[in-house]
Amino acid sequence: MKLVAVLASGRGSNFQAIIDATRSGDITAGRCSRLITDNPGAYAIVRAKEAEIPVSLVDYRTFPSRDRYEDQLIRVMRETDADLFVLAGYMRILGKGIVHEFSGRIMNIHPALLPSFPGLHAQRQALECGVKVAGCTVHLVDEGMDTGPIVLQECVQVIEGDTEESLSERILQREHRCLPRAVQLFCEGRIRVEDGRVRIL
Ligand code: GAR
Repeated sequence: MKLVAVLASGRGSNFQAIIDATRSGDITAGRCSRLITDNPGAYAIVRAKEAEIPVSLVDYRTFPSRDRYEDQLIRVMRETDADLFVLAGYMRILGKGIVHEFSGRIMNIHPALLPSFPGLHAQRQALECGVKVAGCTVHLVDEGMDTGPIVLQECVQVIEGDTEESLSERILQREHRCLPRAVQLFCEGRIRVEDGRVRIL
């Protein structure tokens, strides 16, 4: 059984999807052993408590510098003994040191069909561009911003009259399906990176 640590900054609905998938049997090869958050007000903390998952708070604002924050985050990540770290709405960029130390073991969910629309407000970017199809991407994290080998993607149709909220909600439903699948694949040892691309075994 692999250990999965989730990093989340806010609402935590993707974190909840992982918890639910563990309960329903969609994730069998891993279990969520810790929530790490940078936000003391994150609703993800409430979800963790309900599921009896321990929480580590690493609040960026309480550190004198970015380096000290990264030092503490890396310490907390080491202590989890997790096999996989899942960025589920974690709104901070991880430093190079962290990405390097946990290379191949950090996964991110992004609300766009990467490599289109990286960064913030991905759904708004997609609408402004007039795309007809949007979606979400689970990828392994490298040193870039929302780059790294793609594990799974799912798409949704953009509908006439969509707003940022309505499109985000439709994408979110797919995220909740895609992320637990990717976690299960990782925990089963079925994700292999070859030439910068993911092959699902
Ligand atoms: C999700 O839509 C996730 O894809 C996005 O933040 C939301 C978090 O929702 N992440 C990013 O935009 C990262 N670039 P949640 O807290 O309910 O899971």
